[in-house]
Amino acid sequence: MFYAEVYLSARIGDLISMDEKFATTKPMNSSKCLAETLSLCDVHLFRFKEGEVRFLMAPNLFLPDEWTEALLIGLAGHYTGRSTLGTVMEIGIGSGIVPLCLVNVMRYSVDRYIGIDINPVACEVSRLNLSLGCPRLSYRILSADILANNRPALAEDVDLVLANVPQMPMVSNDYIDRNNYYLAKPYQGEEGEVDILLRDFGLELIYNVLEFSVPPLRERAGAVIFTLSGRCGAEQMHTLVSSIELRVRIVHTIRVRQDVTMNIEPLISAEKAHKTRCEFFANPEDFDGISAAEAIEQMRRGEPVYHDLHVVLAEI
Ligand SMILES: C[S@@+](CC[C@H](N)C(=O)[O-])C[C@H]1O[C@@H](n2cnc3c(N)ncnc32)[C@H](O)[C@@H]1O
Repeated sequence: MFYAEVYLSARIGDLISMDEKFATTKPMNSSKCLAETLSLCDVHLFRFKEGEVRFLMAPNLFLPDEWTEALLIGLAGHYTGRSTLGTVMEIGIGSGIVPLCLVNVMRYSVDRYIGIDINPVACEVSRLNLSLGCPRLSYRILSADILANNRPALAEDVDLVLANVPQMPMVSNDYIDRNNYYLAKPYQGEEGEVDILLRDFGLELIYNVLEFSVPPLRERAGAVIFTLSGRCGAEQMHTLVSSIELRVRIVHTIRVRQDVTMNIEPLISAEKAHKTRCEFFANPEDFDGISAAEAIEQMRRGEPVYHDLHVVLAEI
C-alpha cells in the first residue's frame, strides 16, 4: 500500500484527469470507489524484453507470468515490422499488463483498446493502470462474463483479439469462485459431444473466446492471438480448432513447469471418460509425453512435470 501511495502521489495530475475517463466507462465515478480500489493495490514490476513496466496489482488478480510473456512474444513475432495494431480487444484483461507492455515497451500504436474481464476488481485495476500508464490511449473496460448468456454486446469492429484465459476445469460446481477467477468455471451451455469434450478438458472458455471474437473481427479480416496449453492433448486441441471457422496456426511454443498449486485431477477423469490422453512431460527436453494420471504420480513424488504452452494465431 505504501508504494502504491508514493507511486500515485507522483502522478496526481493524471489521477485528476482520470476521473473523467472513469465516468465515461463505468459507474465508478466517485472518488470513494477510486480510493477503495487504490487501498487494495500494491505496485509491481514486470520485466519484458529490454523494458519494464510498473503497474498496480490487487490481491487475487492474476500476477503476470510466463504465459503473459509468451502471448506478447507470439504477438511480436507475428506483427514484426508493424507499428500499429488498430483496435484491440483483450478478453481477460486482468491488471491491464498486456496493453501496458504493448504501448510502453513494445511501442505499438493502438487506436483503441477494449478490455473485458469477469472480475470487477480486475476491471477497476486495469482502468487505473491504463489511465496512469497509457494516458493517451483510448480505452473501454467492460466487466462481463464471456461464457454466460449475458455476453456484452459489442458494436465496434476490431482488428485483433488477445486472450490469455484459464484452461483448467474446475472441480467444484459453484458458479464461480470469487477468489480464483483463474480457474475455468463449470460449463453452462448446451451439452453436445464437442461441448462436453471442451468442458472436460478446460477448453470451453477458449472456445467461447473464439466464437465471441468472430463477429467483431469479420469486417476487418482480423485475428485472435491466444495462449493454449498443450496439457489437454493433441486430439482435444484438434477438436477445438476444427470446431471454429478460423484458420489456425501455432506461432510460438515454450515448455513450462506445471504449477503445483493447480489441481490437475479433473484431467484424469477426462482421460478416463473420453479414453484419451492428456500431454504432460516428465522432463523439459522430452519428446514423448505422459498422461495426466502419470503426471500426478510424478508430482506426488515431489518431482516437477512440464507441459507445452502454445501461442496460437487464428485468422478470419
Ligand atoms: C490468466 S489471467 C490473464 C491476465 C492478463 N491478461 C495477463 O495475460 O497477464 C485471465 C483473466 O481472465 C479472466 N476471466 C476468467 N474467466 C472469464 C470469463 N468467463 N469472462 C471474462 N473474463 C474471464 C480472469 O478474471 C483473469 O483476469
